[in-house]
Parts: sequence; structure tokens; C-alpha cells
Amino acid sequence: MDFFELIDARYSSRNYTSVDVTEEEIDQILYAIDAGPSSANLQSFKVVVVRDEIVKGQLMEASKNQRWMIKAPVFICFFGDYDNYRAKFGDYKIEDTPLQDATIAMTYAQLAATEMGLASCWVASHARDVAQEILGIEGDLRFAGILTLGRAADTKPRRKRRGPDEWTYQVL
Ligand SMILES: Cc1cc2nc3c(=O)[nH]c(=O)nc-3n(C[C@H](O)[C@H](O)[C@H](O)COP(=O)(O)O)c2cc1C
Repeated sequence: MDFFELIDARYSSRNYTSVDVTEEEIDQILYAIDAGPSSANLQSFKVVVVRDEIVKGQLMEASKNQRWMIKAPVFICFFGDYDNYRAKFGDYKIEDTPLQDATIAMTYAQLAATEMGLASCWVASHARDVAQEILGIEGDLRFAGILTLGRAADTKPRRKRRGPDEWTYQVL
């Protein structure tokens, strides 16, 4: 797919078949994440791949109980890693920077998944207060969200967009 075909193919899929996502597919997605830009090339994010049904269930409940999520065989959870950034720059301009790195990583992952014929949906950071505890990982992390991953049992809906005229300004 060329890039513009890819962005047209991507959509938020909320229904998945029972066919699993392979380890090779996960590795390719991690490769894509690793290739993305990040502040000072620090890659201040942490990525957690979840297949465990109990943990997925806990994350789903914490995500406002969006029950469709559970059909996705894999969740990938993204966090901004504040310790990683701080080790280099202290608190200088730290604010949202690790969270931005994590968000970029999530975007790369979603586009890579689409290229590979996988379906996905970005789930907001509803679980922000509990995700780290559910996953049992240490550190000063801020939760960016969950990417559900699987094989589509739905098709791309027609979706209205605001269009560039609504959100573009030109200063000439
Ligand atoms: C930051 C963010 C949070 C989102 N959270 C959710 C969510 O919690 N549940 C959900 O079903 N979709 C969620 N989505 C998916 C959006 O609803 C979806 O991207 C939007 O409606 C556009 O549709 P499309 O992705 O199919 O083009 C989220 C997307 C983003 C970028």
C-alpha cells in the first residue's frame, strides 16, 4: 500500500474474528514503533503487549467497560516514560513530552497494523489511574491508551470529517 492508500484503509475496528495475531506481526509492529520520531531520540515510552484474557478483561472494565474490546486477541498499552526522559533532561520541558512520544508510537503501531492487514482501535486513556497497577509495571509512567488488535469482523464505515477548511488557518 502506498501511504495514501494506507491512511484511507485505516479505521477504528470494534469487531474482531477469533483468529490470533502472530508473534511475527507483533514484532513488525514493534519495529515500526522503534522507527518513529521521539523527543531527542529518547523514545520515552513503554509498550506493553497483552494477550492474557484476565488482564484484558481488567483493562476493558477500566476503559468504561467497552465490551467490544475483549474480542481483540491483543491489546497494546502505551505509556509516556517520565523516568527515561528525566534521566537525560531532568524536569526541563518534561510536561507532555513523554506522553507525546507515546502517542506517536501508538500512531505508528496503528498504521503498521493497517499495512499488515490487521484491524485496530485506539482506546482513550480511561484506564489511566489503574492501568499501571493492572499491568504490574514500575516507574513514573503516564498512560496514553490502548490499541486493540485483531482481524476485522467488520468493515470500514463511511465517516464524516470536518475537512481542512474547518481547521486550517493560513498566515500569509
Ligand atoms: C485519543 C483517542 C481516543 C479514542 N478513544 C476511543 C474509545 O475509548 N473507544 C472507541 O471505541 N474509540 C475510540 N477512539 C477511536 C475514535 O472514535 C475514532 O478514531 C474516530 O471516531 C474516527 O474514526 P476512524 O478511526 O474509524 O477514522 C479514540 C481515538 C483517539 C485518537
